[in-house]
Amino acid sequence: MKRIAVLASGRGSNFQAIIDRVCDGTIPAEFACLITDNPSAYAIKRAKNHNISVSVVSFSDYPDRESYNQALENAMQESGADLFVLAGYMRLLKPETVRRFAGKMINIHPALLPSFSGLHAQQQALDYGVKIAGCTVHFVDEGMDTGPIILQYPVVVLSDDTEESLAARIMEFEHVSLPQAVKLFCEDRLEVSGRTVIIHDHQDE
Ligand code: GRF
Repeated sequence: MKRIAVLASGRGSNFQAIIDRVCDGTIPAEFACLITDNPSAYAIKRAKNHNISVSVVSFSDYPDRESYNQALENAMQESGADLFVLAGYMRLLKPETVRRFAGKMINIHPALLPSFSGLHAQQQALDYGVKIAGCTVHFVDEGMDTGPIILQYPVVVLSDDTEESLAARIMEFEHVSLPQAVKLFCEDRLEVSGRTVIIHDHQDE
């Protein structure tokens, strides 16, 4: 059975969506740990509710970015996880870290990439005036929100949408797509071929 480490910085509702699908047996995996950079993240409470161990690697505890990054990599390595899920982890990972865990890291982003990478993706979509927004789950590469795409879900933009209302509707699909991608990974059904992620059919034993 695969082991999952989740990296989250805040509320952790996507983390909770994965917890729910692991607990009901949909995702064939167990948790290695939660790794967070924020000692007051609500995600920590969610982990404790489910006896998932927590590793806090807080930027302010380290003298510089180098030592912070080393501590983060150590926590990731020590977790023994097969998969690292970035679920609202608000710090960019260094290229060395991404290379070290290549093919084992996925991220959820609240836009249809490659449009609207980075922060405030939902507001970017509104500002641009798109009619379809959505979310993307992708493998992490060295760029920002640029890795091979695993799943995308579209969400219609309404004429009276605010950043909050659009974000809330996209979030419903985040909570479906991220656990779905984690499940596919844990079932060894994802193959990366260049920029394309091939999803293999489920093989019954
Ligand atoms: C989500 O919108 C996710 O797409 C983005 O950060 C947000 C995290 O929300 N990367 P939560 O902490 O999972 O509730």
